[in-house]
Amino acid sequence: MPARLEIEGGVPLRGTVAASGAKNAALPVLAAALLTSEPLGLANVPALNDVRTMLALLDRLGARATRDESRVQIQVEHVKSDRAPYELVSTMRASVLVLGPLLARHGSARVALPGGCAIGVRPIDQHLKGFARMGAEISIENGDVVARAGRLKGAKISTDLVTVTGTENLMMAAALAEGTTVIENAAREPEVADLADLLNAMGARIRGAGTARIEIEGVTELGGTNHRIIPDRVEAGTLLVAAAITQGDVTVTDVVPDHLWAVLAKLEECGVPHEVGASWIRVRAAERPRAADVITSPFPGFPTDMQAQIMALLGVADGHARVTETIFENRFMHVAELVRMGACIETEGSTAIVRGVDAYQGSPVMASDLRASAALVVAGLAARGTTEVARVYHLDRGYERLETKLAALGARIRRIE
Ligand code: EPZ
Repeated sequence: MPARLEIEGGVPLRGTVAASGAKNAALPVLAAALLTSEPLGLANVPALNDVRTMLALLDRLGARATRDESRVQIQVEHVKSDRAPYELVSTMRASVLVLGPLLARHGSARVALPGGCAIGVRPIDQHLKGFARMGAEISIENGDVVARAGRLKGAKISTDLVTVTGTENLMMAAALAEGTTVIENAAREPEVADLADLLNAMGARIRGAGTARIEIEGVTELGGTNHRIIPDRVEAGTLLVAAAITQGDVTVTDVVPDHLWAVLAKLEECGVPHEVGASWIRVRAAERPRAADVITSPFPGFPTDMQAQIMALLGVADGHARVTETIFENRFMHVAELVRMGACIETEGSTAIVRGVDAYQGSPVMASDLRASAALVVAGLAARGTTEVARVYHLDRGYERLETKLAALGARIRRIE
């Protein structure tokens, strides 16, 4: 039986905990190693299964990487393969991030189309349309995207919707294109800006990352550099919600508060008191939270990656809340499990109506996707009795030793292999 977490709820969390490096910054930054034959020295790389999957994929493409704690040295002196096979891409959709760099560096790529995943179909049509506008020949063959290009040409690209990895893929391809590329309707996530910082340190000429309009002036080659991955705002947000739901007193350090404004504003609306420092956030929750409505939207709006976790808090808040998920078509997998724990939640399409109950009852529950798992852990921390969260491999994709961090804050939580 796969590993599971056993949580004895009811302990207010207390103490200080550091956020790890951001998964969703580390993945594109690692893929960017394909853009140069020189080494990248990366710091604050989180020890996550998704990072291991990306390193395994890059290894197949010709990368040599060494790892020492949260430091990674990676170099792709020669691209030895341009294929990202289905068995890797199907375990991690972010594998598509090698498409842009392979096209730019190597002129060809064969990347399995990411199948759907628990939270939705998640096509990559915006990525492919952008590459085509830059002169790439794109075809779909036996479930693979087959892409070829001479030197890519700068183009004016306007994506039909905001896509984080789409923006990152196109930005990496444009960095080595001939001429200037403009990406309109770009994703403004901090992880996009972090990737641009890395690329500029490698010699790229990118302006406007972090805004909806990014301008990339192509250069002929990029070099190596050192870079520190930004803190994980979603892990930090998850730890803050864990503090709030257990009515504890927790300080999360090594964070960028600016990356969490929408989450902090929502905690404020729920009546959860907190203080903010230069690189730390402290939640001191003394009473039951109030209900507040939530609508997810691209950064700087309320992040979809925090929707499940905030719903766990709202499930025991005082009042009724409407939670609307606008980014993914099926990101309510946690609802049925929270209901098993006694929550009173009904979903109508992309909206969930949450009627706060006094407390969750500890129950055996099943994780389904990364953030749903986190929501079940958060609910278990506040539940009366014992909660067992099965299939924690979902959690291990995006959280570095979450149970260790929570136990250090006083939670009664343990992993059962
Ligand atoms: C990134 O996924 C994150 N992953 C996700 O985090 C996050 O939930 C998501 O952005 C939204 O913020 C990484 O950064 C590795 P999108 P991504 O392209 O880039 C549709 C987590 O929990 N779309 O912004 O794959 C798509 O189906 C993960 O850490 C198209 O239709 O998401 C989705 O509904 C989960 N066509 C919406 O847009 C496209 O070409 C947003 O997708 C691309 C996307």
